[in-house]
Amino acid sequence: MESYKIHLSESEMPQEWYNLIPDLPRPLPPYLHPGTGQPVGPQDLAPIFPMDLIMQEVSPERFIPIPDDVLRIYRLWRPSPLHRARKLEAALKTPARIYYKNESVSPAGSHKPNTAVAQAYYNKVAGIKRLATETGAGQWGSALALACNFFGLECTVYMVKVSYHQKPYRRSLMHIWGADVYPSPTDRTNAGRNILAQTPDTSGSLGISISEAVEDAATHGDTNYSLGSVLNHVLLHQTIVGQETKKQLALAGESPDVLIGCVGGGSNFAGFCFPFVPDKLKGKDIRLIAVEPTACPTLTRGAYTYDFGDTVGLTPLIMMYTLGHGFVPPGIHAGGLRYHGDAPLLCLLVHEKIMEARAYAQNPVFEAARLFAQTEGIIPAPETAHAIKAAVDEAVICRETKSPKVIVLNFSGHGHFDLAAYDAFLEGKLQDIEFDPEAAIRKALEALPKIPGK
Ligand SMILES: Cc1ncc(COP(=O)(O)O)c(C=O)c1O
Repeated sequence: MESYKIHLSESEMPQEWYNLIPDLPRPLPPYLHPGTGQPVGPQDLAPIFPMDLIMQEVSPERFIPIPDDVLRIYRLWRPSPLHRARKLEAALKTPARIYYKNESVSPAGSHKPNTAVAQAYYNKVAGIKRLATETGAGQWGSALALACNFFGLECTVYMVKVSYHQKPYRRSLMHIWGADVYPSPTDRTNAGRNILAQTPDTSGSLGISISEAVEDAATHGDTNYSLGSVLNHVLLHQTIVGQETKKQLALAGESPDVLIGCVGGGSNFAGFCFPFVPDKLKGKDIRLIAVEPTACPTLTRGAYTYDFGDTVGLTPLIMMYTLGHGFVPPGIHAGGLRYHGDAPLLCLLVHEKIMEARAYAQNPVFEAARLFAQTEGIIPAPETAHAIKAAVDEAVICRETKSPKVIVLNFSGHGHFDLAAYDAFLEGKLQDIEFDPEAAIRKALEALPKIPGK
């Protein structure tokens, strides 16, 4: 009998997260204090993060045990299945074998709860009462609302204004799990008020929402900040995904040739690929492909340099590919991919050419998503659809070159709350934004921060 899914039992779920830092080909440039230009220390981060997470950010340990309370919640939906996309393969007439790791089975519908649950746990243990955060498409906000609900924490979500209006039902999820949700920029913070004064009609951006959430946390003693991507500890928590995938591929007797994921801040792709990076560094021939939108082409067109993680300039300086912290991408439907920077760990691997990156426009991405939905049945999140488009393109190359490669993609989330975007696509209203970001990028890069003393 042909099998379609590879399952692990709950007892086979990894009990540790994998930390890439000790296996990097060269050291990760440190976060810098924007005032002094010196590396930030744990005390600089303590006003907004619990010490356990700060120590994970710089840990030299290759494996970090997952606390029992986190494992117990993971088991509500983990291990997630690895699917063989047989019907998609047939439709493409490709000799490639396509697999997808299905992170859409979590209660919030994406990979985001893998870190949300861990972050809520460490904040609870540290005696924190409330978490403040940003959200783009609402996936991260709903994941953190879910996690705070499990650990009895309050949750305040600054949701990018364009998504707040495009995705009302993600708001409902957050409300059901007990969070307060505001369209950002708001008048609740100095950061928000200043941006509204300058640009009252702004559609918002992840960078602006981050500024608001950081300010909220920094100005309230019982409140911490929680970030859904970019930082090392977030990527660390997501490595449960790649470790499970590795075990599942081994069970299927497969060795991957190509691993693919979409990139907003980098957490799902990193969590999926990092456990395979040591194999690649030892000479194994695996391609790791990061996929982003042409409307926000951080890895493919950004500069590799120090920049702020938020728009206003409240965060430490981070060495990453960036479009400039003032870059506001157009309101495309993959809201979770609209971030000016990317995870520093992932950027280092792209810079070292260990990972490759490519960008696609909206319409071809939704075309691939429709094919996936009509063959495999599941409607992908618009973010996830970027990875699907790349997998389809790779599978077509395999057809043309008659090479039976193993292509594995991270199915980071479902699109059940993105149906308005699918309607727009089906009605032919989804425009490939006639937008060459060149001028906007150049302008935003001119405003890169100067590093004191450099
Ligand atoms: C389903 C889904 N995939 C991917 C992303 C991109 O984030 P990251 O690059 O951190 O995985 C998001 C962000 O909201 C998302 O909701």
